[in-house]
This record gives sequence, structure tokens and C-alpha cells, in this order.
Amino acid sequence: MLNIGNKQKRVDGPQKVTGKATYAADITSQFYHAYVLQSTIACGSITAIDTSAAEAFEGVKGIFTHKNLPERLKNKVDYTDPLSPPGKPFRPFYNDKILYNGQPIALVVAQTFEQARYASKLIKVTYEEKKFKGSLSENLKNASADRAPEPASNRGDFKKAFKNSDYTIIREYRQSRNYHNPMEPHATSVEYKSDGSLVVYDKIQGVASSLKYLNGVFGLGADTVQVKSDFVGGAFGSGLRPQYQLFMATLAALELKHNVQMVMTRAQMFSFGYRPEVIHTMKLGCSKDGILQALSHKTVGETSTFEDFNETIVDWSGLLYKCENVNLEYELTPVQSYTPLDMRAPGGVSGVYALECAIDELAHEAGIDPLEFRRKNYVDYDQNEDKPFTSKELMACYARCEEVFGWKNRKDLSKTEPHLLTGYGMATGSWEALQQPASVSLSMNEEGTFTIKCATADIGTGTYTVMSQIAADKLGVSIEKIKFMLGDTAFPDSPIEGGSWTVSSVGSAVASVCEKFKYRIADVWKRNNPDYQAVAFGDISFQKGKLEYRSKTFSFTEIMQQASKEELSIAHSESPAEGQNTHSGYAHCCVMVEVTVDKDLGIIKVPRLVNVSAAGKIINPKTAENQLLGSMVWGLGMALREEGMVDTRYGRVMNANFAEYHIAVNADIHDIHTEFVEEKDDKVNPLGAKGVGELGIVGLAAAISNAIFDATGKRLRKLPMLLDDVLEA
Ligand code: MOS
Repeated sequence: MLNIGNKQKRVDGPQKVTGKATYAADITSQFYHAYVLQSTIACGSITAIDTSAAEAFEGVKGIFTHKNLPERLKNKVDYTDPLSPPGKPFRPFYNDKILYNGQPIALVVAQTFEQARYASKLIKVTYEEKKFKGSLSENLKNASADRAPEPASNRGDFKKAFKNSDYTIIREYRQSRNYHNPMEPHATSVEYKSDGSLVVYDKIQGVASSLKYLNGVFGLGADTVQVKSDFVGGAFGSGLRPQYQLFMATLAALELKHNVQMVMTRAQMFSFGYRPEVIHTMKLGCSKDGILQALSHKTVGETSTFEDFNETIVDWSGLLYKCENVNLEYELTPVQSYTPLDMRAPGGVSGVYALECAIDELAHEAGIDPLEFRRKNYVDYDQNEDKPFTSKELMACYARCEEVFGWKNRKDLSKTEPHLLTGYGMATGSWEALQQPASVSLSMNEEGTFTIKCATADIGTGTYTVMSQIAADKLGVSIEKIKFMLGDTAFPDSPIEGGSWTVSSVGSAVASVCEKFKYRIADVWKRNNPDYQAVAFGDISFQKGKLEYRSKTFSFTEIMQQASKEELSIAHSESPAEGQNTHSGYAHCCVMVEVTVDKDLGIIKVPRLVNVSAAGKIINPKTAENQLLGSMVWGLGMALREEGMVDTRYGRVMNANFAEYHIAVNADIHDIHTEFVEEKDDKVNPLGAKGVGELGIVGLAAAISNAIFDATGKRLRKLPMLLDDVLEA
């Protein structure tokens, strides 16, 4: 009955495909609906706002602007959330100042969504506009290391080593801004109860973050507000921080003393966080035989004028390959936009894109096969932190990927179509394997069904399923006997679902609470069976819902009939494993791709993608593979499609829709293959499992870029790489 390691189907699958899974906007109470009006300028102030026509419109229940924000929301109010970067968080309706184009400046609440939306168009706004510079490139002279956290320390003597290298490259790589675009738009449904308390259904990657925000801004404690989030329709980081619809719906509900729902439109989904545009400068040098001698990675990224959003970008260049002389620099420059936000493998995606392109360029200079070059520069400890890894089976990934892809004979594989150029590229990927503190509770009922609760989330990754598998295995019961509940501030504390750490953090807590339950049941059994009082715990086994001792079995339900009510429920808080301190934990992968480029039209296609990952114990190969596939599709989109375009004159996103912001679709995706190699890890956490939600997107854009070079002899040092770039290069 082992569940861990099985391709268990999603336990919430039937709910999802039958439409029974309720997302934040699926709550069916009688709601007023809220629609937000957004600023059409990026910088300046509102000189007049006339809401009279909107107020008079049919069905309108209330309008909120900076003119009528309750005084109590202005002073000694904390607008931060657990993931706020340094700076001052945006405060909706706080004053007449405009900080970015798309800023919410008025909220219309009406009986129906359509009434609210229509009425919002009747509001007349007059602005006083100020001049500003709209893009990263125009603001580069304001870039500063003081705004950014310090990267890993420099080591050795970069300058000297670079000068003495046999082969060197100096290259610049650029990435455009990307938006998260989860399938489910952000939404909040607030139920206003007769006693003034609230139940808030929010789209969020961890209900604790919404509660912290509501507490700071509105002074609502856990006694007056409960935040729930049973299902999340994708988030990718966009739900790591509470977004403005939470503020809006809650403000309106409190002021109007009524249920209020606010759902963002797809266009409004472009009015908050994004993966920032960055510019990398890479300087690499190696010896004649391809040994890396010197590496310098400098990145400048955009942030807002009010918060200093930062990512760990350049540190990856000090980590992935053996190099004694390393120089890392990171700077931020403010632009007139909303604050960027973590997006799937934040920092890793960006840093490793530049590094893996540069490594490929250097290998080419030295005339060494790119896989061979990476093997030559392999490193088996963390040089940034001077620590050993908890485990690192990257060599096995290289070997298996080489074999599955057919890397050695790749040139013989290309189909000869006269109008197509074929190329092959590869990259290394990596992501952190962290563990955060997490708490859970467990109880058993008379039928022997276990309920396990934790305030964590399932953003589509499979939390419900994987936690059920872990619990079933540890308790020795079938998976049907487990009911895992999440997404409720009434449940024990959990970290946000992010950083690929949920299995590691919550999963380890689940494993431990089940272990505690077994001790509990053994104690009750011994207490009620005097013959067995001296039996050692280690001589007992637990399976099929029964305690077994010397081939005699006792069912859990029978034993627990003798237990007190308190004994039937157990709480547990799990701290990170010691290995999280003494060692560095990372998952790794190797990705290889085949591309074709049309000689005349420049059209780039990716017929084949192979990823081989090492991520410790894989709890569920099915959900894990889903994560890899999803992130590889996105990596392809990032390489060839996605580009958030800002009109620098107005600071407005020009392509805030799916027609013009291109994402990878079915027609872009051909053959994708993923595999995991065996990786034993007894240090990273008690389960030995590393997260895979983010790993597959790291390195992928570089592999495609390298393959395009292989096909065309052209280096396109920017993302996305478009057919125009091929033709113009
Ligand atoms: Mo992830 S960007 O931590 O949701």
C-alpha cells in the first residue's frame, strides 16, 4: 500500500472537472459587485474627480476614491504583507498622487458587475501630469547597488584572471518584462456577517498573508475575520502578495455593511506585479583546455519608485560552476510602474538565462562541446557559502539527458528539409531546496478517517494529493482514509505556498504528525492491554488501518474507542532540518532542445525538449512531471513569445490582453520529455524530497537561444527571440 512514489491521480481531480471546486469568485452569496477605475497617466496628481453621474446611475451602492477614504485608514496603518520588499507599499486611495499608469483611483460598487463597470466610465477625472522617464534603459543612470541587497561575496582576483585567460567573452543579455497570467484572475469575495465579522475568500498563495494585511490595514484580527482559499487557479507568484482587490472588496464590505465581490478583468491583471526587465553584463574567461578562470555577472533590474523589489539573480553565477575568481554585482533602478513581483523561479530564471548563454558562448570560443565544457567545470560544493550540498546528482542528469536526447549523434538526427535550419542547445538548471517552519493538526473519527489541517495552499501543484499520499503511507492506511484540508486561517500556520518548498515544509510536518499519532495509538493500546505494556514501539507495525504486533492485529478504530477526546487529535509544528543550516540544498536539471529556423521567414520552432532532473525523493511522479511540463512550456514562452510592452511616453502596458501578449499555446508545443534520476538525500528534510514547481523553467530559454545559434550562427542576446531578430541579426 505504499503511496509515496506512486503516480497517484489528483484527489481533487473529480471536484475540478465537475466544477465543484470553488475558487474565490465562485462563492454564491448575494454580493454587491465592485469595479475599479484606473489612472490613465503614470505620474502626477488628480486635480478633480467628479463622481456625480456615476453615483446617480442605476444600481450603484457606493463609490470610493481618495476623497472619501475613511480617516482611520490613513494614520498608523501598516500596509505591508509578509513579502513586502523594502520601501513603502502602495496605499489605494490614500491621496491624490499618481505613482503609475493603471493605478486604481476609484471603486464603484453596484448591484451587478455590469452596472459597476458602466458607472465607472461616467467618472470624470482631471489630472496634472508630471514628466517622467518610462523605461529601464532611460533610467539606467539612476541604477544603484544601494537599493539592492548585496550579492554573494566576490572571490579571488577577477580582473587578473580575466586578463590571463586564453579565451574571453564580454556580452550583454536583455530580458523583457513578463506578466504572470494565471488562468484564474485575481478575485476576492467578502461575506459581511450580521455581527460585523467577515469571511474573506481570497485568491492568494497563503491565507496568512491576506490576514496579516487585513490586520495591518483594517485592524481586523483572527477573531473578526477568517480568510479562506480552497482552490487557486494558478498563481506563479502573482498571489504571493495580497493584491488590491483584497483591499477594495474589504473596504467596500465594511463601509456598506454588505457582501462585496471584486473580480479583476484580464486587462487589470496587467496592473500589478511582473517579472522585471533586466540587463545582464557577463564577462567570462577560460584556459585553453576549457577550465573556467574568471566570471563576472552584473545585472541591473527595474523596480518601482516606492518599493525596492529584488531577486537573487547574479548569485547563481557564483554557484553553478567551479570558478575561483568571481565578481557579482546587482543594481536596481526605479521606473514609473507598479512594483515587480516574484514569478516562477524568481531570479533563477533571469540569472541562469544569462549565465547559460555565456557559458555556451565561451565553450564555442574554446572549441569545446557545451556538455563537455559543463562537465569540465563541475563543482561539488557551494562556493558562495563555502558549504557542501545536501546532495547533487547533476552529473547523472547530464548523462541521462545526453542518452535520451541523443546528444552525441545529434547532428545525424536532423531531418533535412531544404527551407529549415536545425540546431541543438542545452543548459543547466537549478532551484533552491528550502524548508520553512510549518504546523499541522490531525484527528481521527470513529470510522478511522483522518482529517489533517494546515493553512497552506494548493495553487494547482497538487498539495491536496501529495499530502494525502504522505499521510496514508506514514499512518499505514489507504489514501481514501485521508482528508487533507487547507486554505483557511482557522487552521495551523503554514508558510506561503511558494519557493517550491511546500512538500518539503508542510509534507515534513504531515509526516511527523502521523508519526506522533502512531506513538499515541501505541500508548492507548498498551494502557488497555496490560499484557503488552512492555512492548517496544519498534516492534509494532502499522498497516491497513491496524496496529500489528507478533502477527496479532488490532484495528485503529477499536483501540481509539478507549482514547480520550484529546488523545484523538494531535498538533505538530515542524522546524527546518539541521541540514538546512549545515548544507546547501538545491535541485538540479539538464535540459536539451532541438530547434528549427525557417531560412527565409525566420520562424523558430522547438520540435523537441528533454529535461532530466535530480530533485531528491519524488513523492508523486505524476504531479511532479506536471510541474516540469508546465514550467518548460513557460520557459519556451519566455524564450520565444512573452513580452510585456510598455509605452515609455505614457508608462502604460500596451499589450494588456491575450491577443497581443503572446504566451506559448498548443501549436508551439511538440515533443516534451521529462525524467528524474535517483537522488538520495538525508539532509535536506526528513522526506528527502526537493521541490520541482520552479526547476523546469530555469535554463530553458538559454538552451533555446543556444540552439538557435547552433542552427543559424546568430546569437540573439535578448528575450523573447522573435523572427524579426533572426532576420535582422
Ligand atoms: Mo513562487 S514565484 O515562490 O510562487
